[in-house]
Amino acid sequence: MSTAPFRRVLVTGGAGFIGSHFVRLALACGIPEIVILDKLTYAGSLLNLEGVLDDPRVRFLQGDIADPDAVAEAMTGCDAVVNFAAETHVDRSLLEPAAFVQTNVWGTMVLLEHATRARVSRFLHVSTDEVYGEVLIGAAKEDDPLRPRNPYAASKTAAEHFAFAYWASYGLPVLVTRGCNTYGPYQHPEKFIPLAITNLLSGQPIPIYGDGLQERDWLYVDDHCRAIWVVLLHGEPGQVYNIGASEHRPNLAVARALVELLGADPAAIVHVADRPGHDRRYAVDWSRLAALGWRPRISFAEGLAKTVAWYCERQDWWRARRDDAFAAYYARNYEGRTSVLRSS
Ligand code: NAD
Ligand code: DAU
Repeated sequence: MSTAPFRRVLVTGGAGFIGSHFVRLALACGIPEIVILDKLTYAGSLLNLEGVLDDPRVRFLQGDIADPDAVAEAMTGCDAVVNFAAETHVDRSLLEPAAFVQTNVWGTMVLLEHATRARVSRFLHVSTDEVYGEVLIGAAKEDDPLRPRNPYAASKTAAEHFAFAYWASYGLPVLVTRGCNTYGPYQHPEKFIPLAITNLLSGQPIPIYGDGLQERDWLYVDDHCRAIWVVLLHGEPGQVYNIGASEHRPNLAVARALVELLGADPAAIVHVADRPGHDRRYAVDWSRLAALGWRPRISFAEGLAKTVAWYCERQDWWRARRDDAFAAYYARNYEGRTSVLRSS
């Protein structure tokens, strides 16, 4: 991959799952300087940046994208922005939607405002395939209508609208990516794949919402980061780029694959009450991105095996994330669901 034509890139949410992998990729690709702005919410951790923080090209700032002073400081001297910072978990958005509006909408607005003033040459906003809502057949194209159905997806949709408003109104060179379900090392144990792995490693069952036939397209994190890099360098401002893997699986199939990889008892898969408003299926058409030369490189089978191996090896990392606060969230989210427990 070619060296970027940027001097200093602001990466927000760089202490999170995808953001931390992206920082590693950007450094490997020769970015001269990176400023990471991250609030270090429950989802972020400096442990995700092990081996990165010592790099003289990296400056880490703990701060909130919704805080104009923190953003102004972080934006100083930057000529590109990649915005990963967000509240990202759908279940939490159902419990506490206001935090999603504050960070995902207002925070993005603050970033757009300061990026416009700084006249950056690229503003890449990392969005999600959830903005389309459920796609029961076929695959969503970038110009399809947006019909978000949960508070997280609604906040991401609103953020995109602001991003395009800044492009159309003030000429900010905005690019938007809409990625599908991403997995890999350093993903917080609240999300389905790491939750299932770490539950099995802790002797707990995998909770499957409803019938488990909801379908997601699973993308390995390195492939997602390469896609963002390609769009950052070669995308056309004002455009959206879907990122898909064409690795669709019902949740039950993912759970069964994990049980097999870990040699666990199939009875560890239990059905619990469904997520309210649970989107049945997501699917995107990623031919626009393919035209820029990107393809996913890691198959689901390979990515899942690598991920399981990493969680088996890095129990220190995930046990620290499954702390008391996580236990409190877990009890709140899953209580009431367990009344319909049954084996798959
Ligand atoms: P994550 O939850 O692992 O990380 C989010 C990071 O943002 C954390 O480090 C957190 O501390 C930080 N953050 C949260 N609020 C902040 C604030 N107000 N100010 C500064 N930092 C803040 O998320 P992720 O899974 O790495 O997702 C990154 C981005 O990619 C998000 O925008 C998400 O919507 C998008 N996305 C994720 C997926 C996926 O499957 N994980 C798929 C498509 C798109
Ligand atoms: O599609 C992209 C989106 O993927 C990202 O924008 C989000 O940030 C990311 O969290 C993810 O959203 P999902 O809701 O699809 O991911 P999650 O890992 O929470 O759930 C994946 C599927 O597994 C979903 O159908 C719900 C189901 N599930 C999840 C959990 C946590 C279960 O059946 N049981 C569970 O305990």
